[in-house]
Amino acid sequence: MNQKIHPLSRFEVSIRLPGDKSISHRFGMLTALAEGPSTIHNYSSGADCHSTLGAMRTLGAEISVEGTTVTVRGCGSAGLRPPTVPIDCGNSGTTMRLLAGILAGQPFECELFGDESLSRRPMDRVMNPLALMGGVLEARDGRYPPLTVRGCQLQGITYAPPMASAQVKSCVLLAGLFANGETVVEERIRTRDHTEVALREFGADISVIGKTIRVRGGNILQGRELMVPSDLSSAAFFLSAALLVPGSSLQIAGVGLNPTRTALLDFLVSMGANIRILNLSQVNGEMVGDLLVRYGPLRGGVIEKDLTALLIDEIPVLSVLGAASAEGLVVRDARELRVKETDRIATMASNLRALGAEVEEFEDGYAVKPLRQFRAGIFPSFGDHRIAMSMAIAALAADGVSEIEEAEAASVSFPEFYSTLDMLRA
Ligand code: S3P
Repeated sequence: MNQKIHPLSRFEVSIRLPGDKSISHRFGMLTALAEGPSTIHNYSSGADCHSTLGAMRTLGAEISVEGTTVTVRGCGSAGLRPPTVPIDCGNSGTTMRLLAGILAGQPFECELFGDESLSRRPMDRVMNPLALMGGVLEARDGRYPPLTVRGCQLQGITYAPPMASAQVKSCVLLAGLFANGETVVEERIRTRDHTEVALREFGADISVIGKTIRVRGGNILQGRELMVPSDLSSAAFFLSAALLVPGSSLQIAGVGLNPTRTALLDFLVSMGANIRILNLSQVNGEMVGDLLVRYGPLRGGVIEKDLTALLIDEIPVLSVLGAASAEGLVVRDARELRVKETDRIATMASNLRALGAEVEEFEDGYAVKPLRQFRAGIFPSFGDHRIAMSMAIAALAADGVSEIEEAEAASVSFPEFYSTLDMLRA
């Protein structure tokens, strides 16, 4: 489906966004492993998080969905059932990588598969630590889905992931719930810590000191009432819209502001953005607040070293802002972008050039030169949700009507994206 995007003039609105994708995945998995009933409010409407619910249903959890409220009757940590069919993870790397950790410690075998994009994404990053724990996993060419997991009794390990990845860390910690003794993850760069926060919330024996996380096997998790804050990575698109369209201001209510995610706000402020946080509170261990952003001209910026890992999902839309800024944007140390839903260095470089920007591509990133006026065009999403949404935001500041090809890719994380965009025109 092609989606037409018209340029936008000054707006002043207040919006709400769907639940955080990362937190929804974790709540979906942990409620299924917990004893007794749970209710999750504001669960992400994205297809990825529904892949997680589908997987947990296949493993025996009773799950019902009404709008964004999800009710789960958990199986208990020893109660997952052997699935009778392979588990479909759709487009979702988080579903496959986190679930691999849970399944490695179950007394049964199962297969995880995904769509074409997921089938090209590396799984050896989770297979390696799970093998050290005694897990038995097989994959196509040793690293690509489908993934066969032969569950067995795992042993706790101490593991330092070679790449900054919350998915790898979370996979090992979740496997640790089913391992003998203690499992320790030592991170070099502190990645998003939603798994740690959620495990503590569910009553697991977990400790975090600096960048070292310890979890013990044999925990009993307790079902509970949960609230998912709105997704800061989805908010990034609308913050960017307000920073692209002169004179605009925007308020976004109830956004997740976990400190391992807010490098985005710090970076935008360093570019010159005017952002305020209001009504800060804590819900289920996660920080939540309202964001208020006002248009103002942006300087450029550099995303490199440890910062790159902290902004990894937002780099596509930040690159659009970089092209609109006074000095442009440089992204380095971002090889991980090449193994996302698409090779986001290549797909964004090509789309930024189509906007009229001059882009120098490196193996680990790119440099985007400032561009006075974005050129309208037909921009491919390459089937990648964050590319579709980033280019839709860019199109708001273009010199005519643009189209996004395969625009429906946005629904992987944000099915309401285009209707929310319409609210800026109201
Ligand atoms: C996620 C971790 C990140 C991020 C992804 C969600 C998570 O992936 O890009 O969108 O929920 O743990 P990596 O672990 O590959 O960096």
